[in-house]
Amino acid sequence: MPLTINNLNHQIHDGHLQRWLLTRISLEIAPGECVALTGDSGSGKTTLLNLIAALEPLQQGEIYVSGQPLHRATDKERSRLRKQTLAIIFQHYNLLSCLNVLDNIGFSARLAGRYDESHSLSLAKHLGIDHLLEHYPDTLSGGEMQRVAIARALSARPKLLLADEPTGNLDNRNSDQVVKLLLSLAKSHHSALLMVTHSSAIAEKMDKVYQLKDGCLSRRLLGEQNG
Ligand SMILES: Nc1ncnc2c1ncn2[C@@H]1O[C@H](COP(=O)(O)OP(=O)(O)OP(=O)(O)O)[C@@H](O)[C@H]1O
Ligand SMILES: [Mg+2]
Repeated sequence: MPLTINNLNHQIHDGHLQRWLLTRISLEIAPGECVALTGDSGSGKTTLLNLIAALEPLQQGEIYVSGQPLHRATDKERSRLRKQTLAIIFQHYNLLSCLNVLDNIGFSARLAGRYDESHSLSLAKHLGIDHLLEHYPDTLSGGEMQRVAIARALSARPKLLLADEPTGNLDNRNSDQVVKLLLSLAKSHHSALLMVTHSSAIAEKMDKVYQLKDGCLSRRLLGEQNG
């Protein structure tokens, strides 16, 4: 399985108090499966993605990425997992300002040791950013930066792709294209996709929809209203 989470609990500091943000979270995502993660602002969606990507220390519970236990991994194993197995599209892009668009796209693939320029160029073309390859991030619009971040995440062909509101800054046409591309690449590479989205229309294109509310994760049946 690309992702298995068992009984995860996570506490945060809220002023002087400790508060449980995530409680008894369990989730399984199969190869090629595309899952939407919804929930109000502040419900813990980004925190959950950061825990899966081993960017925040796990407090309680188990996370297996591609069968490997993150909760028992050494720093070296965690860093290898981040480079080789999973990719994350951040809510705020996190592009490298000193690299142009082409080098930003190829960055993850280079880290994973599987850089392939034709794959980078094909992703750029699919995402409509192939005219920007020589540009630097500070000259791009929010939507263009978002598409570069998406291409960079896909360049290393991850087994598990985590995407935090990847269409948040895109107009409807680009957003539709990006979602179609993510879904088709996930299916053709047998990668699992976990995508945070506030859009019901996008959530309904996924195989399954989960909602985070009051710390708990529950499955929403497709077609059910947000609430
Ligand atoms: N390291 C931290 N220390 C303390 N509080 C934190 C920390 N990280 C997140 N929080 C708090 O946890 C809550 C959840 O944050 P998170 O960013 O995960 O929400 P979210 O569901 O992604 O929201 P949004 O939809 O606005 O992006 C927020 O109240 C936030 O302030
Ligand atoms: Mg968030």
